[in-house]
Amino acid sequence: MRTQVGIIGAGPAGLLLSHLLHLRGISSVVLEKRSRAYVERRVRAGVLEQGTVDTLVEAGVGARLLREGLPHHGIELRYGGAGHRIAFDKLVPGRAITVYGQQEVVKDLIAARLAAGGDLRFEVEDVEVHSPESEPYLTFGGERLDCDVIAGCDGFHGVSRPSVPDGVLEVFEREYPFAWLGVLAEVAPSSEELIYARTERGFALHSMRSPTVSRFYLQVPADADVAQWPDERVWAELKARLETVPGFELTTGEIIEKGVTPMRSFVAEPMQYGRLYLAGDAAHIVPPTGAKGLNLAVADVRVLTEALAAFFEHGSPELLDGYSAACLKRVWRAQHFSWWMTTLLHTFDEDDPYGRRLQTSYLDYVTSSEAAATTLAENYVGLPFDRPHV
Ligand code: APR
Ligand code: PHB
Repeated sequence: MRTQVGIIGAGPAGLLLSHLLHLRGISSVVLEKRSRAYVERRVRAGVLEQGTVDTLVEAGVGARLLREGLPHHGIELRYGGAGHRIAFDKLVPGRAITVYGQQEVVKDLIAARLAAGGDLRFEVEDVEVHSPESEPYLTFGGERLDCDVIAGCDGFHGVSRPSVPDGVLEVFEREYPFAWLGVLAEVAPSSEELIYARTERGFALHSMRSPTVSRFYLQVPADADVAQWPDERVWAELKARLETVPGFELTTGEIIEKGVTPMRSFVAEPMQYGRLYLAGDAAHIVPPTGAKGLNLAVADVRVLTEALAAFFEHGSPELLDGYSAACLKRVWRAQHFSWWMTTLLHTFDEDDPYGRRLQTSYLDYVTSSEAAATTLAENYVGLPFDRPHV
């Protein structure tokens, strides 16, 4: 079997790449180890930058997103007994975010690929990358797929990054001493906008998925287990961390999903080796506080699509050669922003009273200075794709 681009992983990165390549007349096969039902149900993040929305709409997969996605023009930072709005509409006019679950993006992309006769293989076993330096091919479940190029879109725990020989990739990493407990609940959001709450008990985030479904996160110890978090404890803790301003009451409801997400910052450089190109979580991870993971994956895939189009249409390898360098500017900006949001809003065991005062001082600055608030807003809504860094 032969294809132009062998894609490992049917997350947002692999599926969008396959779809964008199809629009350019480039063939691909997507190999995914999980089932279609599993990837469509996997609850992940839900904040799409303007550039991500534009990419999906321009690619013809944005109809449901435009219908059901919730545009947001600000977020609230809540701390010290008060809420402070970061107003995107005022600080970065014309740019906003859209709340739409990542698994909904995945469903829309799978539907589009299948409607166009795309070759998506689910529940594929033992994918292996071979000779990425020269004539690459993939093997899986006893089959062989020859490719001109391999795209490693298989997330942080995939096989593509470990298939690069030792010593080639430089890894930059930071682990945080806490995790997020994520909860999906069948209850109307108690706030119109997202609330990022910093409290002495730890961080909490109130997000949503629709007018009837809310999404919440709680900072928990790194070794937390969902079994320690029965529904009553989740609601009590969310109330303790969110009901901190006069008049705000959290509406509770049925919890339909619960999971613990570790918090990590990670970058592997370069994002390529021979004819193997890494995109999305396979190459980099950010803590979710800045809501950047999915958006970075989309940005990588845009760059890779242009590079592959130049390669297949004109035989020009220059853009492919520069793929990693072109992506890493945005990746590092998002790394810094995500680390910064994380350190600004969480409690750290090693915090001394001086450290807490510094954190409050920075929050006061961000919520009172237009320049500082603009820094947050500009990064949160996402830098335009033609201006990957500032
Ligand atoms: N063989 C085949 N498929 C694999 C393998 C493997 N060995 N290992 C992992 N996969 C699949 C996973 O099952 C998953 O469906 O690769 C896919 C990777 O998808 P994601 O983890 O969603 O990563 P990515 O597409 O880069 O999406 C970016 O943004 O919001 C963040 O972390 C969040 O998933 C999100 C990411
Ligand atoms: C989400 O809605 O899942 C979400 C929102 C904002 C974040 C992270 C996750 O920073």
